[in-house]
This record gives sequence, structure tokens and C-alpha cells, in this order.
Amino acid sequence: MYRMAVDSRTLDVNSSYAYMLWCRDYAGTSLMATVDGNDAGFITGYTRPDDPDTLMVWQVAVDDQYRGRRLSVKLLDALVDRTEATTLETTITDDNAASIRLFTGLARRRGATLRKSPLFRSGDFPEEGHDTEHLYRIGPLGN
Ligand SMILES: CC(C)(COP(=O)(O)OP(=O)(O)OC[C@H]1O[C@@H](n2cnc3c(N)ncnc32)[C@H](O)[C@@H]1OP(=O)(O)O)[C@@H](O)C(=O)NCCC(=O)NCCS
Repeated sequence: MYRMAVDSRTLDVNSSYAYMLWCRDYAGTSLMATVDGNDAGFITGYTRPDDPDTLMVWQVAVDDQYRGRRLSVKLLDALVDRTEATTLETTITDDNAASIRLFTGLARRRGATLRKSPLFRSGDFPEEGHDTEHLYRIGPLGN
């Protein structure tokens, strides 16, 4: 996961320790996709502690060589199918067209409403140059 996050050149890269701890504690809401035995993509998420009906999707990445095969769609669908959550949240920056299409497609397939609002604005971040992270709230999730 750490390697894919670095290679993506798009994701905020967390420490390798953070990914290891994540897999220890949130394996139930995270998935790794493999193709021919090779790590090809991952999705991480968690159930919000104060709102167990909401699944927060944190990061999705597919390795360059496996992109465009609907792998992220499969990862997202598999994650949604394995949770009891009725609402999904994620944050996306406006420049991430692939991610916007991924989550817009989920809303369409599940017949859910998608609401978008700023969650963390550019100026909220301690570092310069971080784009606003918009919250996408999708629900109710049908099957
Ligand atoms: C976003 C990402 C996970 C998509 O993975 P993928 O497996 O190649 O995507 P899929 O083949 O499943 O396609 C999903 C949707 O995105 C669209 N899409 C994929 N790549 C795209 C691109 N470069 N530009 C615009 N749309 C794109 C597809 O057309 C599809 O939309 P549709 O259902 O409306 O046709 C991948 O590009 C990636 O790892 N990006 C870097 C990390 C990142 O930005 N993650 C998201 C933020 S957490």
C-alpha cells in the first residue's frame, strides 16, 4: 500500500508504519486486489466511530500498469458489499477526475444521492498548496 501510494504521485503518502497499523486494525474495511499474484490496487476505509452507519473511504489506488480495467470499481463495490453501512463518505479534490467518476459511478449504480460540500479547505491545511478536500456523501446505498 505504501509503495502504491508513493508511486501514484497523487495520494497523500502516509508513513509505512501508518499503513501497517491500518492493516492491523482496519482489515475488515480495507482490501488489496491482486492480479496474477501481484499487488495491483488497494482501498482503505473505516466505519465512523460516532456514526456506524457511515463508511468513510480513505484511499483508493491502482498500480499504473493495472489502471483502466475497472479494478477500482471492483474494489469499491466489494468493500461496500461487505459492510452494513448505508452511507459512504470520501473526500476528493476537484482535480481528481478519475476519483470523481469512480464515486459518481457508485452513486449511480446504487441509486443513491450524492452530496458534495467542502470538508477541509485549502487554507485549513498546515502546508501550502493542498487543494480543498470536498466531502462526497453517498446514500442510501442500495444493492
Ligand atoms: C483513481 C484510480 C484508483 C482509478 O483506478 P482504475 O482502476 O484505473 O479506474 P477504473 O478502471 O475502475 O475506472 C473508474 C472510473 O474512473 C474513470 N477513469 C479512470 N481513469 C481516469 C482518468 N485518468 N481520467 C478520467 N476518468 C478516469 C473510468 O472511466 C471510470 O469511470 P466510468 O465508470 O464513468 O467509466 C487510479 O487512477 C489511481 O490509482 N489514481 C491515483 C490515486 C488516486 O488518485 N486515488 C483516488 C483518491 S483516494
